[in-house]
Amino acid sequence: KNAVLPILAACLLGEGPCELENCPEIKDVEDTLHILRKLGCQVNQSGKTVRIDAETAAGYEIIGGEAARIRSSVLFLGALLGKMRKAVLPKPGGCAIGKRPIDLHLAALERLGAAFSCEGEAITAEGNRLHCGTIRLGLPSVGATENSILAAVLLPGETRIEHAAQEPEIDELIRFLNLRGGKLQRMGDAIVIEGGRCLHPVRFRIASDRIVAGTYLFAAAAAGGELHLQNYAADQTLAGVLLQMGGICRADHLGGMHFQMKHRPKALPGIRTAPYPGFPTDIQSPFMTYLATVEGSSTVIETVFENRFMHVAQLNKMGASIEAMGNKAVIRGNAKLRGCQVMATDLRAGAALVLAGLVAEGETEISEIYHIERGYEKFIEKFEKLGASITKI
Ligand code: UD1
Repeated sequence: KNAVLPILAACLLGEGPCELENCPEIKDVEDTLHILRKLGCQVNQSGKTVRIDAETAAGYEIIGGEAARIRSSVLFLGALLGKMRKAVLPKPGGCAIGKRPIDLHLAALERLGAAFSCEGEAITAEGNRLHCGTIRLGLPSVGATENSILAAVLLPGETRIEHAAQEPEIDELIRFLNLRGGKLQRMGDAIVIEGGRCLHPVRFRIASDRIVAGTYLFAAAAAGGELHLQNYAADQTLAGVLLQMGGICRADHLGGMHFQMKHRPKALPGIRTAPYPGFPTDIQSPFMTYLATVEGSSTVIETVFENRFMHVAQLNKMGASIEAMGNKAVIRGNAKLRGCQVMATDLRAGAALVLAGLVAEGETEISEIYHIERGYEKFIEKFEKLGASITKI
């Protein structure tokens, strides 16, 4: 999800059609394709392959509907400024995991000469005076880094983004733009863009989603068992955590991995979420389900978002013993989870509840599953394949 969304926005830029393979069939992608169509792009989808031709795109307004619902619609700010020199967007929506302001996005684009005005729920951006330049982000924001790249790639001259986010999904965006003829390079915590080059059509394969993979891995860890993931090799951080938990990870020769929870699962004394290469905030909630059920106590400190413990109340309803205070949660493990009615409050919190439902005694009913469908493709079928008894009503 986090790799494909900025790449879809980047399809607006340059010439001719782009064909994306391995595009996840999730609600956030569906909504983003709607936005592209509204802007005038020709969009054809056949299963997991999507073809986008932005030649006919002349719109710059994405007010209302899906644009107001998904936070990633904010990425059209950079892309539309780059292409049309103008953009009208709703103030972003998305998961209610904290305040999630966009001040860093606006400040970064202002450094490139953009001007903003806000009226009601809309943001209008003017980019007639856009120029290359140096941006220094106050925080390594993923979205602000991507927006800066999208605005700068067509601007002649060198743009430098300092203190940029280092998430692998940004490198996927860079790889996509470079394959199209762009010249972008990561240099430590900076990204250097030699802008103004012609971007041409390309066929590109979207990388597997490391957060989705992590969710399935923690599901296997929590429920006990084995899992084979195709097209996914765990990064160092996740592989390290899985190992400490008593899991066994083995890479296969086809670029996939095999995971087995052979030993008794162990609690990890402490986890602190952090920007990449730290422990991903997006995995924190599924990981907490695991911690709630294993022997021993642990602490989770959430440093990226200020309101990312909404799953705690739901897990406690199922019998977990977790105390959340500010950005710290103390988990007393060994809980015998019981199925009951719970509610998905956001995307990853929903995933945590699915995991809890797998482990719990009895039946668990999760409402508001549209949150989960935003980011997990065919999750019912996939968990069924792993032996779960799970149905969508
Ligand atoms: C992206 C991911 C999301 C992930 C997050 C952190 C996508 C589509 N979403 O979200 O799944 O959880 O990175 O890895 O890729 N902030 C500000 N001002 C801003 C922007 C951000 O204060 O203008 C703050 C946020 O409130 C948050 C922190 O910076 O506390 C990190 O946010 P950011 O990296 O921007 O996350 P997103 O790009 O929204």
